[in-house]
Amino acid sequence: MAIMTVSQLREGMVLIEDAYTASGSQMILPRGTRLDAQRIARLAFYGVKQVNAIAEQEAAAQGIESPDVTPVSALPAAPAIARPGAPEPSFGDRVKASPEFKKFKMDFEDAFISYQRNINEVIRTGKPLDMHAMTEPVYDLIHSCYGPSNVFDMLHQLRDYDDATYAHSINVALIAHNIGEWMHLEEDDLELLTQAGLLHDIGKVTLPHELLNKQGDLTNEEKTRIRMHPQFGYKAIENQKINQHVKNTVLMHHERNDGSGYPRHLKMDQIDPVAKIVAIADVYDAMTSTRSYRKALSPFFVIEYIEEDALQKYDAQAVLTFLENISGAYVGNRVRLSDGTEGEIIYVNKNRFSCPTIRSGAEFIDLDKRRELKIEALI
Ligand SMILES: [Fe+2]
Ligand SMILES: [Fe+2]
Repeated sequence: MAIMTVSQLREGMVLIEDAYTASGSQMILPRGTRLDAQRIARLAFYGVKQVNAIAEQEAAAQGIESPDVTPVSALPAAPAIARPGAPEPSFGDRVKASPEFKKFKMDFEDAFISYQRNINEVIRTGKPLDMHAMTEPVYDLIHSCYGPSNVFDMLHQLRDYDDATYAHSINVALIAHNIGEWMHLEEDDLELLTQAGLLHDIGKVTLPHELLNKQGDLTNEEKTRIRMHPQFGYKAIENQKINQHVKNTVLMHHERNDGSGYPRHLKMDQIDPVAKIVAIADVYDAMTSTRSYRKALSPFFVIEYIEEDALQKYDAQAVLTFLENISGAYVGNRVRLSDGTEGEIIYVNKNRFSCPTIRSGAEFIDLDKRRELKIEALI
C-alpha cells in the first residue's frame, strides 16, 4: 500500500486503486493509470486528497495493467432517460447535461492546468509573466459561455473541486470580467480586470497547502501569515512588465473603502479602481465555493452579505451593478426556502437584491415582506 497526497506524486507512478473526488462522488482516474504531469494536475484540480500509487517497476512486477484512460471530462454526457413517475430534472441537472456545460468544464480544466503550470514557473524561476498566454484560456472560457448570466449557471455546477488558489483565480477573473461588462467598460479595461482577477492571489502560491486548507481554527500567527499574501504577491510581481493596476490589485484586493481592510487600511480613492471591482468578485467566489473547512454558501446568502456592507465597503457603482445583475442572473432558477418550500425566482427586488419574489405553485412569496424566510439553496 502506498497512500500519498497529490503533492507527493511523481510522473511515472501508477495508481493501484481508482482515484475519486474528495466527496467520493466521481471517479477521476482508474486503477492502473500511469501518472504524467497532466494527470497529476487533474487530480489536484478535482481536489483529490490522497491516492494509492506505487512506482512503475513495482506495478509491472505486480502485473497491474494500464487501462485505456479517458479523462472524466471527455466522457460523453450520460443520456437522460426519463423514467415514468421520475421527478423532473432540476435546473442544475439540465445545465450539467447541456453540451455548453460539457465544453465549459473541459475548457475550465485546460485553463486550470495551464494557469497552474505558468504561475508556478514564474514563482519558481522568476521568468517573465506572459500575460497573453495566461489570459488566452480564460478568454476561451468567456467566449464559450454565450452571455454573462450563463457564467454563473456554469460556475455553480462546477463545485466538485476544493481549490483556494488556482480555480478560484480563474473564477475571479471570469466574474470580474463580467462585472466590467455589466458596467459597460471598454475592452482594454475588461482585459485589465481579467488579468487582475487571475493574479490577485498569486501571493498564496508561496504559502503551504496545509496552511491554506487547514480545518479548524487558525492560530493568530497563521492568520497573520495568510493575511500577508497581498504583500508576498506584490513582491513576486513588482518587477514584472505588467500593468500597474494589476500590480495594485494584487496588493489592494482586501482593502475596503471604510478602511476596515488589509494590509494597509487604505480608504476610498487610495484603493485602485480595478482592485475595487476584483474585491467584489473575490468575496462572491470565495463564499459560494466549497472549502475544505466549510460547505459552499447559497448565492443569495452571499448576495445578502455583500448587500449589508455594500455602500460602506465597496465601490458604489460596481457593487450596485453587481448586485442587480447577479440577482437577475438567477431569475428562472428553482430554489428551496428555509421552511422547505420550493419555487422559482420570478422577480428581483431592486431595493433589496437578496429578497426576490418566488412563485411556488399558485402562491407568490415576496421575500422582502417575509424576512423570516431565506433562500437556502438553488435546486
Ligand atoms: Fe486574497
Ligand atoms: Fe481571492
